[in-house]
Amino acid sequence: MSSTLTLVQALDEATQDLGRAGIGEARREARLLAAHVLEVTPEAVFREPGIRLRKEQAVSFRACVVERAARRPMAQILGRREFRSLSFRVTGETLDPRPDSETLIEAVLNTVPDRAAPLRILDLGTGTGCLLLALLHEFPDARGVGVDVSVDTLEVARDNAKALGLAGRSDFCAGDWGNGLGETFHVIISNPPYIPSAGIAALEPEVTRYEPRLALDGGQDGLACYRALLADIPRLLEPSGGLFVEVGIDQAESVGWLCVSHGLTVTGTARDLAGITRCVMARRRNGSKGTDRKQLLHRKKTWNAPPARLVCC
Ligand SMILES: C[S@@+](CC[C@H](N)C(=O)[O-])C[C@H]1O[C@@H](n2cnc3c(N)ncnc32)[C@H](O)[C@@H]1O
Repeated sequence: MSSTLTLVQALDEATQDLGRAGIGEARREARLLAAHVLEVTPEAVFREPGIRLRKEQAVSFRACVVERAARRPMAQILGRREFRSLSFRVTGETLDPRPDSETLIEAVLNTVPDRAAPLRILDLGTGTGCLLLALLHEFPDARGVGVDVSVDTLEVARDNAKALGLAGRSDFCAGDWGNGLGETFHVIISNPPYIPSAGIAALEPEVTRYEPRLALDGGQDGLACYRALLADIPRLLEPSGGLFVEVGIDQAESVGWLCVSHGLTVTGTARDLAGITRCVMARRRNGSKGTDRKQLLHRKKTWNAPPARLVCC
């Protein structure tokens, strides 16, 4: 049964509601929601603006608009998010993959020149699995393990692996960072929670109301998860392997120091598209454990060096 509402009227109403709720690109978002409900591409929404919505379409469009006006993230309403041109299922239990995190993938690609390398990859705090699965997509002979303390995210990551045809090369397991893992890896990648606890309340409503605190909260100074996960890295990293961790604004130097104090050498950093240092790269320091005083003294020289090439053996 048709409703009395045409598509363009529904879009106009939605744009007003979303605008009133403080959403910046209200028209674009209304169009995305309409495309979702009508099961067409966003471009197709404007082809027939005069069509009348069927009753169930009008009801479900309104429900989406109400959710979005309450600042539920678009990715959670659509149930999906693109990351490196791959489509990932997203739920209320997973962090919505961010474009900034693509910096880590670029950093690995720049460091490992051989796409046919049979890498073993570890992703600590895997969430949707976006980092591990994007890398497995780039390295067709690689295999990987994704670890998360949240069992709900692991289900989503496994679904994503299946949907992307990568289930045969990926394992997802519950764990507390690298605790309990026995094998070693050529690439260890991680985007841990790094927002200082007191700063979470000041983030946008989409994040504070709807994203899992477990994926955000980095403790008092934002660095608690780096301290916890770095402890196992020298044991889990191949001698020629590389660690790639995402960092928040202004955290690169502190995280670099933490790497050094956990027996690693910082090999470089990488910036995101906004010019913010987003990724710290490190490798095992040969033969020594604990703080390398020489490296602390000459850190600038070391950190500004181009990333060392990683060879898979
Ligand atoms: C910032 S999110 C990153 C998710 C995903 N890798 C991404 O880049 O979109 C951090 C993830 O770490 C997980 N996490 C938090 N504490 C953990 C722990 N102790 N051990 C393993 N994973 C943990 C959270 O559940 C969350 O999925």
